[in-house]
Amino acid sequence: MAFSAAAGLSGGAFADPDEDQLTINGEIEIVTETAAPEHLEYVDTIYSGWRFRSDETQAVQMDDFDNPGMIFVEAAMETWDTVEGTEGKSCASCHNDVETMAGVRAVYPKYVEAAGEVRTLEHQINGCREERMGAEPYKYTSGDMVAMVGLISMVSRGLPVNVQIDGPAQSTWEKGKEIYYTRYGQLELSCANCHEDNYGNMIRADHLSQGQINGFPTYRLKNTKLNSVHARFKGCVRDTMAHTFKPGGPEFTALELYVASRGNGLSVEGPSVRN
Ligand code: HEC
Ligand code: HEC
Repeated sequence: MAFSAAAGLSGGAFADPDEDQLTINGEIEIVTETAAPEHLEYVDTIYSGWRFRSDETQAVQMDDFDNPGMIFVEAAMETWDTVEGTEGKSCASCHNDVETMAGVRAVYPKYVEAAGEVRTLEHQINGCREERMGAEPYKYTSGDMVAMVGLISMVSRGLPVNVQIDGPAQSTWEKGKEIYYTRYGQLELSCANCHEDNYGNMIRADHLSQGQINGFPTYRLKNTKLNSVHARFKGCVRDTMAHTFKPGGPEFTALELYVASRGNGLSVEGPSVRN
């Protein structure tokens, strides 16, 4: 089956990312276009997904008062100060202000020495809840979890994504890269077939981006909630009619590290707004 027919790509509708600049609240400058990191072989310039959205969708992200994702972040701000679990602690008991998390989003997923493995921000949050608070872990893609990730992302907005891909993270990164280029499902499509070979093209009614994750979590106008990275991966894999991997599991964690590294140099912009 030809790729374009199978995927619903419409030929001749090529449209580059637009030239718009993203500044949030008139003060946070966001890098939405920059030179690709050296490890990328087939792409010279990387773009945030924001650049592929319509002017109307873009505008919603330019002011926090308009960004509906902020409602969830505000709820997480309350959770930050709420005591939960058997140890009688809140996040704030140990981490003080959430501003102490500035810079953290930009370097995750990362190899965590104490765990002996690459972990996502979600894993770290649940690690603290279970082991340090004596609280129930959040479900990996639950509303509470994605809101907390949104809060921790927000305090890194404007900082460059900078995940480590060598040293102890290297084998996980390589596994993620392999998954990225593997063709899955009845449509036999890899992530790269859409987000590397065809970004800028229209697929059905959608303008294909590079599938970057610097904007996560994203508030989607389509489902009116914050969406996590692994939930998005799951949706994309399902669209190829393949069996998906488990959110929070080793495959998606490796894939997240690899996809994050394709965006090294773009700004953290979560919580972003997409259609
Ligand atoms: C009992 C103290 C304690 C509590 C309560 C706690 N944490 Fe932690 N947390 C730590 C320690 C210690 C570390 C590991 C050292 C570090 O990186 O700060 C850590 C690490 C983290 C990290 C990784 C930081 C990094 O720089 O890599 C995140 C994210 C995090 N915690 C989030 C939370 C959240 C969200 C909560 C509340 C749901 C919470 N923690 C509750 C002590 C705590
Ligand atoms: C059949 C084509 C197709 C395949 C294959 C595909 N995606 Fe997507 N993906 C889309 C479309 C369409 C969108 C929504 C428009 C956009 O942002 O590109 C999207 C969106 C995304 C986004 C959100 C980007 C943003 O800025 O919000 C990420 C991340 C993503 N895909 C990752 C992946 C990964 C990882 C894979 C491989 C497991 C994958 N996709 C496979 C079509 C595809």
